[in-house]
Amino acid sequence: MSGDLAGHAAIVTGGGQGIGRGIARALADEGADVAIFDINKPVAEDAAAEVRAGGRRALALDVDVTDLARAEAATAEVLAAFGRLDVLVNNAGWTPNEPFADSAPETWHKIVAINYLSVLNCTRAALRAMVPARGGRIVSIASDAARVGTPREAVYAGAKAAIMGFSKSLAAEVARHGITVNVVSPATVDTPLLRGMLTSEQIERRERANPMGRLGRPEDVAAAVVFFASPRAGYVTGQVLSVNGGVVRAG
Ligand SMILES: NC(=O)c1ccc[n+]([C@@H]2O[C@H](COP(=O)([O-])OP(=O)(O)OC[C@H]3O[C@@H](n4cnc5c(N)ncnc54)[C@H](O)[C@@H]3O)[C@@H](O)[C@H]2O)c1
Repeated sequence: MSGDLAGHAAIVTGGGQGIGRGIARALADEGADVAIFDINKPVAEDAAAEVRAGGRRALALDVDVTDLARAEAATAEVLAAFGRLDVLVNNAGWTPNEPFADSAPETWHKIVAINYLSVLNCTRAALRAMVPARGGRIVSIASDAARVGTPREAVYAGAKAAIMGFSKSLAAEVARHGITVNVVSPATVDTPLLRGMLTSEQIERRERANPMGRLGRPEDVAAAVVFFASPRAGYVTGQVLSVNGGVVRAG
């Protein structure tokens, strides 16, 4: 804990459980006040209570990040409560586990909305505060599925690749405002999403395949987010950092 984020304010989408919750906790440990945007209000309340127990301010907001108007209204609530917005972490995401040939267009639209359009919604809402403030950190959680391809996750992998292209382009656009835009790309992380998708046998197989002999943990991903969010990373932008125990080593 460096206290690098003391006095800063952050939004974490999907911060109620899994990786997002680990990110919310880690940002608060560094001194940030944290707003959690989640469609699951009870878990968001739990996560906020955890942040408050650590001495920081927290908000739990019922936000479907696929809804631009709601993302904008919730961002305004954060500004009213904390008086500033320094960090946006686009973490909310979802995928079913099914072959593309069997999937329905309604499912594609849902995957693209949750994993990609949500990033556009929350990022534009945040930029409206960050540009006039002449500074900010935007970090989005993609997936190594986008870097190497994963069967049964084709649409999701495409949406996560879109986050990478978007972030690199936006990084070049907003650097002159003192805003950085980066991506953290996990492989397999032990979360409720993963436990709902894979059998315990499949999970054990992934543990064995990882050079570190284990799956990622939310705190592994959170450490990379904290780095990108910190003032020390002010000259790092447009980058994708994989956090995966070495299981994917593509440059
Ligand atoms: N777990 C993994 O192995 C893994 C690997 C690579 C990338 N990721 C990515 O990491 C991120 C977090 O994944 P996780 O495993 O912690 O998932 P999770 O399902 O455990 O948690 C996701 C959280 O997002 C919330 N959420 C879902 N849809 C939302 C919406 N429309 N609006 C607001 N909140 C919403 C959920 O309520 C939940 O609290 C996702 O973007 C996921 O794609 C996960």
